[in-house]
Amino acid sequence: MRNVTIDNVTDAVIGSLGKFGDITERQREIMTALVTHLHGFVKEVGLTHAEFLAACDYLARAGQLTNEKRQEFILLGDILGVEVLVDMISNPVTSNESESTVLGPFYRENPPVLPKGASTVQKAFDDQQTVYVEGYVRDVDGKPIVGATLDIWEDAPNGLYENHDPDQPDFNLRGRFETDENGHYALIALRPVPYPIPEDETAGELLHFMGHHPNRPGHLHFILQKAGYRPLITQVYDADSEWLDNDTVFAVKESLIGKFEKAPPGADTDLVLRFDFVLGTATEARLAAA
Ligand code: BEZ
Ligand code: FE
Repeated sequence: MRNVTIDNVTDAVIGSLGKFGDITERQREIMTALVTHLHGFVKEVGLTHAEFLAACDYLARAGQLTNEKRQEFILLGDILGVEVLVDMISNPVTSNESESTVLGPFYRENPPVLPKGASTVQKAFDDQQTVYVEGYVRDVDGKPIVGATLDIWEDAPNGLYENHDPDQPDFNLRGRFETDENGHYALIALRPVPYPIPEDETAGELLHFMGHHPNRPGHLHFILQKAGYRPLITQVYDADSEWLDNDTVFAVKESLIGKFEKAPPGADTDLVLRFDFVLGTATEARLAAA
């Protein structure tokens, strides 16, 4: 192509795909759509050269910020609603299985393995409310799933996850539990509080550019796994929390909202949360993907 114009540049780039190297059909599909949408976006907004340079500088700064503690591009994807969209496409609800939602950047692998009913709380906070979390894990036909693991993690009453707070013990408010012979799980945790996602640097700039806020409603994170079933990455939201209707990362689903009730007199905790999960089978996941 020797005479590129506004009208033919998109076809020129798409026509170059695979010309000088082997690419897969998936690479072709992705690059064709990417170039089409990117060029369409640039034309639609009439992007100026100054704006193009500002965007390049912005992405470079986001890359420089990324390290093993902070993955800036996941955060940017979350703020733009991309992670929740990818999750919904990857995990369609085909039956009565529980809905998934975003993983977020604060999960740590291999949390402490704790017995049923144990507490994840390693440090007390003045304003904490303890909660007994319990429920059943079942398959889509209502049969209990025995020996399913549940990884759970949450922020402390100061709004910080332990790995971002030098004053919390290692793996505070994290644990791995297992369902018993009835598919029942139970643990003690703290009522999760709303918190702002990291809002300094490039994530904050994007929120500011969008006129949005950084806050998430109070939630408990879960990953449920059992061989033969589709893994479930999800969150349970506090029905009385602020920000349920305008979560900064758009991850709230009605079916994932749970009620933190006052515990009965004599109970070991201040509150009780009862929440059941339904796991789809791995076969259903394969069919849905197809
Ligand atoms: C979280 O829930 O931990 C989270 C999700 C998306 C972005 C930031 C935090
Ligand atoms: Fe979170």
